[in-house]
Amino acid sequence: MATSKQLQFLSNDAIALDVRDGLTATPKRLPAKLFYDEIGSQIFEQITQLPEYYLTRTERSILESFAGEILQQAGPSLTLVELGAGTATKTCILIEELLQRQNRTLFYPIDVSPSALDEAVRQLGQQFPALRVNPIVADYTGGVPALGRIGGRKLVLYIGSSIGNFEPDEAVRILRRIRRTLRSGDALLLGADFAKSSKILVPAYDDAQGVTASFNKNILARLNRELDADFNLDAFRHIALWNRRVSRMEIYLESLTDQTAFLPPLDLDLTFQAGERIHTENSYKYTDAMIESILHESGFTLEQSWCDRKKWFGVHLARV
Ligand code: TRP
Repeated sequence: MATSKQLQFLSNDAIALDVRDGLTATPKRLPAKLFYDEIGSQIFEQITQLPEYYLTRTERSILESFAGEILQQAGPSLTLVELGAGTATKTCILIEELLQRQNRTLFYPIDVSPSALDEAVRQLGQQFPALRVNPIVADYTGGVPALGRIGGRKLVLYIGSSIGNFEPDEAVRILRRIRRTLRSGDALLLGADFAKSSKILVPAYDDAQGVTASFNKNILARLNRELDADFNLDAFRHIALWNRRVSRMEIYLESLTDQTAFLPPLDLDLTFQAGERIHTENSYKYTDAMIESILHESGFTLEQSWCDRKKWFGVHLARV
């Protein structure tokens, strides 16, 4: 008899099937969306504050330095939309600047997590009484038809380098689906991490304190919690590799010994050899040419880019 937790998990057929598919494949893999349960989201929040994880703070500093220029370039009378808004903490920088230029601003944060959106509505309502927040609970990767019914000039924010967690061809399909719900003159603001030395990249995904390792292992901990699996977390190690040929960080869990694990609700017996890896995530690092190319292929024209002094992170404005 399944517990309610298992039922909750299994009722999400797509996830259960993904776990079975991934762990019976060669090489083994697990879907990255499993990272972000409540515990995983808390650990990720810690990652964003690590000295080695430059991404979040660098993007924030770019938005702080250039919010005025970005909004100027985007055009007058903007309605803000944000894909994968979460609690929209970095977005505040743009909202504050926008409210100085236009006294009425509409903001449509889009996220799969209703609780994150509730938090965004609460926080933003407190901080910006003049902002009208209309949250949309949706998985933006399939496109968001509701965007087509929003009037006026839209600026769609897709920041936080989430684009890097998709294969480039999938990134193009996602942007194209969004593009179809926009009108000429609407704009996209895309935040992406630049390709750079592995000396900078690898520590960002394998920090000295082991926070990223525990984030990665939480995916197995979650299978133990929710599927009654019996993964021995101490018998796996976190690995982060820079694959320069395809310009991406690759994240794995590597089995330290020959071992087995069992997932009761899937009736799935697994064996791992010493050194065998489970692939859990890719994080693509973009060059200027790659940015131009995915934007162009998805029906946008790159207008202007902003970056930090070291060119570690980029924020790109593109027009429909
Ligand atoms: N979107 C984040 C990134 O690619 C997610 C992330 C950060 C991540 N550190 C990680 C995913 C470690 C897996 C493992 O930068």
